[in-house]
Amino acid sequence: MSEANQITVAIIGGTGLNTMSGVRVVEEHVVETEFGKPSSPVFELELEEVEGKPRFYFLPRHGKPHAVAPHLINYRANIAALESLGVKKILAVNAVGSIDPKLNPKDIVVPEQVIDYTHGRETSFFDGTIKPLQHFDFSDPFDASLMETIKAVSEKAGCNVIFEGAYGVTQGPRLETAAEIKRMAQDGATLVGMTLMPEAVLAREVAIPYASICLIVNPAAGVSQAIITMEEIYQAVEEGMGQVQVLLKALVAELA
Ligand code: HPA
Repeated sequence: MSEANQITVAIIGGTGLNTMSGVRVVEEHVVETEFGKPSSPVFELELEEVEGKPRFYFLPRHGKPHAVAPHLINYRANIAALESLGVKKILAVNAVGSIDPKLNPKDIVVPEQVIDYTHGRETSFFDGTIKPLQHFDFSDPFDASLMETIKAVSEKAGCNVIFEGAYGVTQGPRLETAAEIKRMAQDGATLVGMTLMPEAVLAREVAIPYASICLIVNPAAGVSQAIITMEEIYQAVEEGMGQVQVLLKALVAELA
């Protein structure tokens, strides 16, 4: 912990982290925000096996149990809750499909760009009512210094991480059609998922450095000839999340 008892790192993630070994739940913070309730209480966790037992926050974005659909997540409340707890860095964990055929299930990718295909979500704090309207640069949606840290820590921890590409965010909860994925590939998207936006832009609006660690869990629609099954997705989550956890623990140890 950097300052007196101040927890600075938060992980926003989905499945697979509740069973992280060597992690103890210290407290559950029930937070109310002016934008409503976050997806769940914010868990304060401790890395038991690391010297100094660093603490971090964990917020399951789909709730606990996993039940909130991607288009219904209260992204504003989630980010506002972390901001109110004093979080200074957010590591987002996202399960995604691969559009770029050279990427494979269980690969870990840190994307450099985002293309937002979502609609009807509350995408800003600066809506002119609760907070005044503001325009701002978003050329590089992820925090460069946080990405550098992920790179250095992944190398030190022996985790193979690919740093490239663009995450195309779709509305869900259905997966895409093959034609939609083809169009996204033409746009330059290499990954597809449903949850990165507006999370990333809201973090930028409150000036919290944010980066995404993506686990590929299936080739996107039409990328392989087979239809996508939930079994293959769950299997890739189960087999791949272990490495993501190794990386996250090393990151918390470095950043907290
Ligand atoms: N599409 C959208 N979101 C996803 C996918 C996908 O193929 N796989 C995991 N999340």
